Amino acid sequence: MKLQSLVITFIQVAVVESITDVFGYHGGNVTLPSGASSSWNLTKIEWSIYRNNTWIATYQRKKINVDRLHSYKGRLHLDTSSGDLTIRNLKVTDATEYSVDLIDDKGRDSSNKIRLNLRKKLQKPTIQIVNSNSENGECWVKLNCSSADEGVNLTWTWHSEIFNRTSSIPGSDGSFMLRFTSTSTRQKQVTFTCSSTKDNDSASADYTLTCEDPSPPKPTPAWLVLFIGVFLGVLITLVVIYRDKIKTGCIQAKETVLKGSVI
Ligand SMILES: *[C@@H]1O[C@H](CO)[C@@H](O)[C@H](O)[C@H]1NC(C)=O
Ligand SMILES: *[C@@H]1O[C@H](CO)[C@@H](O)[C@H](O)[C@H]1NC(C)=O
Ligand SMILES: *[C@@H]1O[C@H](CO)[C@@H](O)[C@H](O)[C@H]1NC(C)=O
Ligand SMILES: *[C@@H]1O[C@H](CO)[C@@H](O)[C@H](O)[C@H]1NC(C)=O
Ligand SMILES: *[C@@H]1O[C@H](CO)[C@@H](O)[C@H](O)[C@H]1NC(C)=O
Ligand SMILES: *[C@@H]1O[C@H](CO)[C@@H](O)[C@H](O)[C@H]1NC(C)=O
Ligand SMILES: *[C@@H]1O[C@H](CO)[C@@H](O)[C@H](O)[C@H]1NC(C)=O
Repeated sequence: MKLQSLVITFIQVAVVESITDVFGYHGGNVTLPSGASSSWNLTKIEWSIYRNNTWIATYQRKKINVDRLHSYKGRLHLDTSSGDLTIRNLKVTDATEYSVDLIDDKGRDSSNKIRLNLRKKLQKPTIQIVNSNSENGECWVKLNCSSADEGVNLTWTWHSEIFNRTSSIPGSDGSFMLRFTSTSTRQKQVTFTCSSTKDNDSASADYTLTCEDPSPPKPTPAWLVLFIGVFLGVLITLVVIYRDKIKTGCIQAKETVLKGSVI
């Protein structure tokens, strides 16, 4: 029993060491490297699914056969000089372990194992407008960018007609804010882009802020000027008349009081 478990452990270690990891995206293309030396003139290339030893693509006696397995039909390309195998339009079921056996014209042989890992495409980050305001041509906006994916780097870039700027927050997996103030009439529109990146994949979202010019004062129509003029004239006249009356009234009242106290 003890010997058996030791042997199993040894085999597992050997397998793990020899595997090359390759990453692809669902629906994308990927090239599995054969690992052959470029000086080799390959005469035999045999790609198989490592787990069950089924050939999927071969080059034997100068004949290429990439239609051996129905599930890969029309999606394989075998490069006979490098030995590399390209799989197009990747499916979830393609994510498995592959093996390649090579022989060159001098009788040298080599083999390599590749594990194909499928990754999910990054999702578009979400830009939230936390707050924004625009007054007399001065605008500001507070934006929050967040990603549903874990472990991504979020980067803001923003640009207008007259400038380009980038601000990175490396390693950020949450959200952050951006405040922008525009006072120049030349930068009426600013586009903010939030990019989410992880390894070789990226996704981005845009938000465009339009900062309106302060509305110029409208010319006052002539009839309004006339109306206001007449109205003011009448008002002033009335005030003058009534001021006299009010003053008189006050004096009369005071006099009455004085008289009263004297009496
Ligand atoms: C995959 O390869 C095919 C053929 O070479 C090409 O038409 C297609 O655009 C490629 N797809 C991607 C996602 O690169
Ligand atoms: C590889 O071998 C083939 C057949 O033996 C030969 O025709 C070809 O020229 C060789 N190519 C190189 C690059 O040596
Ligand atoms: C080997 O695996 C492939 C893909 O999973 C499958 O299509 C094929 O039928 C399997 N072959 C055998 C002999 O089990
Ligand atoms: C930004 O958005 C994320 C996701 O909706 C949220 O968890 C976070 O609290 C927001 N941050 C701020 C400061 O609003
Ligand atoms: C900003 O960058 C874009 C794309 O890189 C470029 O086309 C544009 O001319 C740049 N604008 C300024 C003002 O530098
Ligand atoms: C995020 O950026 C930092 C610095 O540029 C880099 O070291 C790190 O690997 C990046 N992380 C991801 C997940 O891309
Ligand atoms: C990223 O791309 C480079 C060059 O195309 C490649 O060598 C590397 O393996 C890729 N990394 C991942 C994690 O996909």
